[in-house]
Order: sequence, then structure tokens, then C-alpha cells
Amino acid sequence: MISLIAAIGKNGELGKDNDLVWHLKDDMVYFRKTTLNHKVILGYNTYKSIGKALPQRKNIVLSHHKINDENITVYNDIKELEAKELNTEEECFIIGGASLYNYFINKADKLYLTLIEDSCPLATVYFPKILNEDYNKEIIENKEENGIKYDFVIFERIKK
Ligand SMILES: NC(=O)c1ccc[n+]([C@@H]2O[C@H](COP(=O)([O-])OP(=O)(O)OC[C@H]3O[C@@H](n4cnc5c(N)ncnc54)[C@H](OP(=O)(O)O)[C@@H]3O)[C@@H](O)[C@H]2O)c1
Repeated sequence: MISLIAAIGKNGELGKDNDLVWHLKDDMVYFRKTTLNHKVILGYNTYKSIGKALPQRKNIVLSHHKINDENITVYNDIKELEAKELNTEEECFIIGGASLYNYFINKADKLYLTLIEDSCPLATVYFPKILNEDYNKEIIENKEENGIKYDFVIFERIKK
């Protein structure tokens, strides 16, 4: 089962110059708690931006680069990654960046979105547009940090 997890601004802003736009402490805690002990799948740019394997999770990076880290499994073929890692009932998390969200958005049953009530005109990458009517939404928590309001929301695809 494929889930996406991302923190996005009002216009779907995801990142700027290969970094996050907003650094929200409680969002990091929520991300860790949600993904812990699961597979996390990320693109090379996101891996570079994080700089290391995420502990207590199976880290799978999609890339043509060689990564010398025994805690990371690398695939250069997305179809092979899907067949070998995602063909399971176990919940697997796509954790970015934009290129992976775009590829997996229509394959995911669940989106864990942190909806941030702020915008960033200088953002360089965006989350794909989704149709609200395709999902049931559950607001998990409303938060505020340094004057920025944000909500943890789970979007669950309505089976047709
Ligand atoms: N707000 C959030 O929740 C969130 C979460 C994650 C990331 N981000 C942000 O997103 C940005 C990065 O996103 P991005 O789209 O630039 O990069 P990305 O998706 O992290 O990585 C792109 C790279 O992944 C590899 N890749 C992607 N698709 C592939 C395919 N089909 N086959 C083989 N390799 C493939 C390629 O690596 P190679 O060049 O090695 O081939 C490609 O250059 C950063 O700003 C980051 O901070 C935000």
C-alpha cells in the first residue's frame, strides 16, 4: 500500500532551492512518528537535502547515482523499485520530492498532508494538484508555530 507524506503551502509549495520552505518542529515529529518502522521512498535530491538515511526506517532512494551507505537501497529503475518494494499490503511512504509525488500521486491510497497556511512565491517545487472530491479528509490536528498555522490532514482515496 502506497502513501504519500508531504508538508505543503497554500499553493502546494514543497521546497525552494533543494530545501524545505518551512521548518516546523512539530511537523518533523509527526513525520517521524508516522513513518517510523516503515519503508520510506525518496528521490536523489531529497536524499541530498536530508543528507543521511532516516533511522529506524528502510530507506529506498531512486537515483542514477551510486550511494555508499549500507542503510540505503538504491534503484535506478522506478518500475523495478515498484515491483520489488511496493507490491505489498504493508504501508510504504513516498517522502518526496516533487518528481516522486508526481509519479505516485495516482497510485497512492492515502496522502498525509501538512497543510500550511502560508505561501512562498519563490518556491521552486510544488505538490501535484489533487481533486478534493476524490478523497475523504480527516483533520488530525490544528497546530501553530512561530505564528504559522498548519493542519495535519489525512486524505483517503474514495474507492470507485
Ligand atoms: N515539503 C515536503 O514535504 C518535501 C518533502 C520532500 C522533499 N521536498 C523538497 O522537494 C525538493 C526536491 O524535489 P525534486 O523533485 O527536485 O527531487 P527528488 O524527487 O527528491 O529527486 C529527483 C531525482 O530522483 C531521481 N529520480 C526521480 N525519478 C526517477 C526515475 N523515474 N528514475 C530514476 N531516477 C529518478 C533522479 O536522481 P538522479 O539525478 O540521481 O538520477 C532525480 O534527479 C527539495 O526542495 C526538497 O526540500 C519537500
